[in-house]
Amino acid sequence: MTVLEAIQKSADFLGKKGVESPRLHTELLLAHLLKMPRMKLYLNFDRVLTTPETDALRELVKRRGLREPLQHITGSTSFCGHEIAVSRHALVPRPETELLAELGWQFLTERRAPSRRGMADVSEQAETVLGAPTALDFGTGTGCLAIALAAKCPNARITALDVSPDALALARQNAAQNQVAERIEFLQGDGFAALSNGWGERPREPVVADGHHGSPGDSPRQFDLIVSNPPYIASAEIATLEPEVRDFDPRAALDGGADGLDFYRRLAAEAKPFLKADGKIMLEFGDGQTDDIKKIFEGEKWIVEAVREDYSHRARILVARR
Ligand SMILES: C[S@@+](CC[C@H](N)C(=O)[O-])C[C@H]1O[C@@H](n2cnc3c(N)ncnc32)[C@H](O)[C@@H]1O
Repeated sequence: MTVLEAIQKSADFLGKKGVESPRLHTELLLAHLLKMPRMKLYLNFDRVLTTPETDALRELVKRRGLREPLQHITGSTSFCGHEIAVSRHALVPRPETELLAELGWQFLTERRAPSRRGMADVSEQAETVLGAPTALDFGTGTGCLAIALAAKCPNARITALDVSPDALALARQNAAQNQVAERIEFLQGDGFAALSNGWGERPREPVVADGHHGSPGDSPRQFDLIVSNPPYIASAEIATLEPEVRDFDPRAALDGGADGLDFYRRLAAEAKPFLKADGKIMLEFGDGQTDDIKKIFEGEKWIVEAVREDYSHRARILVARR
């Protein structure tokens, strides 16, 4: 069978199984298998696949036909240009979330300059630490947001928390793979409680001068930025989602309680003490949740600065301050 015949046959099969964009997914699976960029397949349409290649492709296509996500089959996805390993332990990073990362790193980058002013008399080392903006990634999953922030803001210190130890193990692995592990601390626990679980694991010297870091007795820790893409699907809605999401993303990454808004209520009620006076919180949310989320935050006396649309013009990110 040639490459082109294999693509046509497999795409036909995936289409019948209800997979969206079956031809694209077939090409991506085959490119993964043959370890070549997808576009190169087009130059190889007449190439005859070996028997082992045909057998291996059949296996991959079978898995995709059972609606296993493409990223689980290939083992990774791209997020803001970083390769992020994925597994059943964490949500597959979505393209929409790249906007949250982008807003986050813009804020951290702008913020760095003023904090370094007037510091000519401090040592270079102290300047690096004192000037370092800090961010908290609440519910880090694969670590995609934390990694993108750390990579784009080489001076920033990131804290990433998650309730799932398995997700954190994956996030740690991803941070190492992307060479940013030294600037991200990973803490396990239920919401902000994770921040007090992590002192024993802290990789850096405690620094108290600007409130960025402290010792176990100092509380609460305050961040320049809190980002989160929390679970936001209403519990009863989960059963209606596409199998790729329903059966493969962890339930803890999806389930936002009866109306999907539990985590926003929790963040609105609990996040203020963990944010610096001039810090910002940036939260991703789902379709149709804008008004409820604004109400929740305004009800807790937050100043909602903006609601940003994603690249498909859907309201997607809330930006607020204390
Ligand atoms: C929607 S996923 C987002 C993952 C990642 N930040 C992203 O954008 O791809 C939400 C994450 O929140 C975590 N989570 C759920 N409940 C939590 C809790 N009570 N405390 C901390 N993290 C929690 C889940 O384990 C999951 O990794």
